[in-house]
Order: sequence, then structure tokens, then C-alpha cells
Amino acid sequence: MNIRQATVDDLIYIQNCNLLDLPENYQMKYYLYHALSWPQLSFVAEDENGKVVGYVLAKMEEEPSDAPHGHITSLSVMRTYRRLGLAQKLMTQATAQMATVFGAHYVSLHVRKTNRAAIGLYRDTLKFE
Ligand code: ACO
Repeated sequence: MNIRQATVDDLIYIQNCNLLDLPENYQMKYYLYHALSWPQLSFVAEDENGKVVGYVLAKMEEEPSDAPHGHITSLSVMRTYRRLGLAQKLMTQATAQMATVFGAHYVSLHVRKTNRAAIGLYRDTLKFE
């Protein structure tokens, strides 16, 4: 398994993961906007054959009312690759880059309160409040 920065060529595969795993789906132009505006912040996980099996799509908040901060737009890992630590690694890479490249003070995201897996990841593992 390998984690690397996402490229424009990955966007179709990121969109595919998103469609399979999440109810919030986006048009390709929104993925492209992320890749062009904040190319340092989005990452993919690929298997040993180079197939994209997970992603984190991230951005900087564009109209911050307070200190600069990042935002996780979307995260998913394909079902058969879960509980291997991939989401944790994707999140760690994205949030480190937000701080290093853009001086982010903190990171925000939205998650459904019924999403136990994601809340376990964010709150228990990554220590989000
Ligand atoms: N139940 C409880 N805790 C969980 C679960 C689960 N099913 N899955 C992960 N966690 C927690 C655990 O603490 C886990 O550590 P552990 O395995 O040592 O116990 C920790 O998160 C790290 O888990 P990872 O292996 O890194 O997580 P994974 O790669 O499996 O991906 C994810 C987690 C992204 C939530 C995955 O289940 C998924 O793709 N779900 C569908 C899409 C989704 O809900 N995405 C998040 C929406 S919110 C947003 O996009 C901003």
C-alpha cells in the first residue's frame, strides 16, 4: 500500500470511490478546483497494482472568519481496504500539509452523527473535538 499526493489524473478514481462510499457526491469540476487550488493537500492510497483504493480531498477555508484553517471535504477508503490504517495516514498527510504549506491553525470537517467509523477515526484516533 502506498500513500501519495493526488494528481489530476487520479480525480476520476477519487470520484469513483466517492460514488461508491458516500452519499455526498460532487461534480468533476469541484474535484478539479481542489486539485488546481490546493494541489498539496489531497492524497490517494493505492494498492500494490497502483489502483486507487482511498482518498482524502482537502482544501483551505476560503473565507476564514478567524485564523487560517483547513477543511476536509471528503474522505473514503474502499470497503475491502478498511481497518488497515489508510484513512488515518491520509488524514495525517493532509493535515500536516495544511499546517506546513498554508499555516493552518486547525482543521474542520462535517460528519454525520450516525457515522460511527468516521467519528471513531476523527475523535478517538485523530483527537478532533
Ligand atoms: N468503527 C469504529 N471505529 C473505527 C472504524 C469502525 N468501523 N473504522 C475506523 N475506526 C477508527 C478506529 O479507531 C481505527 O483504529 P483501529 O483500527 O486501530 O481501531 C481508526 O479509526 C483508524 O482506522 P483506519 O483503518 O485508518 O480507517 P479506514 O481506513 O478503515 O477508513 C473511513 C475509515 C474513511 C471512515 C472508512 O470507514 C470509510 O471510507 N467509510 C465510508 C466513507 C465515510 O464515511 N467517510 C467519512 C465521511 S466524513 C468526511 O468525509 C469529512
